[in-house]
Amino acid sequence: MKTLTISLSLLLPFVLFAHGDKEHTETSTPIQETQTSSASKLSAYKSINTEYLKKIQPIFEKKCFDCHGKVKNFPWYYVVPGVKQMIDYDIKEAKKHIDMSGNFPFISHESPLQDLQSLKEVAIENDMPPFRYLLGHWDAKLTDEEKQLLLEWSDQSILKLKGVRHE
Ligand code: HEC
Repeated sequence: MKTLTISLSLLLPFVLFAHGDKEHTETSTPIQETQTSSASKLSAYKSINTEYLKKIQPIFEKKCFDCHGKVKNFPWYYVVPGVKQMIDYDIKEAKKHIDMSGNFPFISHESPLQDLQSLKEVAIENDMPPFRYLLGHWDAKLTDEEKQLLLEWSDQSILKLKGVRHE
């Protein structure tokens, strides 16, 4: 807790500066803690999303959006009786967990930090998309390069959200 407080106060001038909000840096009155954390959180979300749009969304669009985002293409076997129901169910489940239709932070039943941690796990354990779909070649697994990008992005984003400067 102590390190968190220290790192937050180290981060604050940076955050304010990054926003060009200079008047605050000149006041000596400490800003209330809730304001501090929501300001730095917002700026962390913003910077995480910028990286997301640049590096990660193109990957997710190819490999994850079929279930976690806007569904555009169903696999040919979608028409097979029983399969359709299974796929519909999984898409519902997938979105319940994490809906990537919009920007980061995603619509989710978890916190943004928890989502990043799950995404990091996905990159490490390679468990998305679910195996049964790979058989039909609807979606391919992440390549090593994509996994690396996802890992780097989620790692850096987790640090940003934890209020640690990572340069
Ligand atoms: C074919 C459908 C499908 C695709 C494609 C898919 N997912 Fe999922 N995903 C699911 C389902 C279903 C769940 C919820 C149940 C589960 O964990 O199996 C889920 C859950 C998740 C979770 C939450 C896990 C948790 O512990 O809460 C994450 C994170 C995730 N997916 C990331 C991804 C990423 C990243 C991709 C692309 C590389 C992807 N998924 C592609 C179906 C899919």
